[in-house]
Amino acid sequence: MNETINTILRRRSVRCFRPDPAGQSELEAILDAGRYAPSAMNQQPWHFTVIRNPELLRKLEENCKTAFLESSVEALREIARQEGFCVFYHAPLMVIISGDPGAIAAQYDCTLAMENMMLAATSLGLGSCWTHAVMMFQATEKGKAIFRELGVVFPEGYQPYAAAVFGWPAEPYPETPLKKTDCITFLD
Ligand SMILES: Cc1cc2nc3c(=O)[nH]c(=O)nc-3n(C[C@H](O)[C@H](O)[C@H](O)COP(=O)(O)O)c2cc1C
Repeated sequence: MNETINTILRRRSVRCFRPDPAGQSELEAILDAGRYAPSAMNQQPWHFTVIRNPELLRKLEENCKTAFLESSVEALREIARQEGFCVFYHAPLMVIISGDPGAIAAQYDCTLAMENMMLAATSLGLGSCWTHAVMMFQATEKGKAIFRELGVVFPEGYQPYAAAVFGWPAEPYPETPLKKTDCITFLD
């Protein structure tokens, strides 16, 4: 199998990170991979917000966790009450991709960019995990206010569509074969 396919099959969500952040060259390679994703009519309607300030990450984490604990959804409250629950898994880096909602397909474009980034991270030996939790929090009025208060702002009119954490895995990649096989129909 070639290296690209190997990387795609090897990628797993990593939920345990070393505290030391990825180097600048790795980060730039990951961001390039995001920027080179396809986008509808090549609009590239995205913006990449890189959060690596540990104090800012800690405050975001704390607020997301509180929102989970106060959520009206019992399943979310239950997750947040679990011993050691951590929304960002102590990752030293988070990237939020925001997009122009007026573009043809901003959400798809941003999602493709994030997958490119997660694959690039895997190829470099870094781990990543999509953290929709932070998007759910940001979608609430309280979340928006806290993002503003913490200075996590996006270009005028842009909406955050994808968030993921990145870092060196603190444990070997999970290897469990998780994927369904009965989800393909061939119409020959
Ligand atoms: C849209 C989306 C939202 C996700 N949100 C979260 C999340 O908030 N927290 C988390 O730990 N993992 C999240 N994940 C990761 C999934 O749980 C993970 O991809 C899935 O269990 C399959 O595992 P794998 O990534 O190791 O293949 C999300 C994944 C996607 C695609």
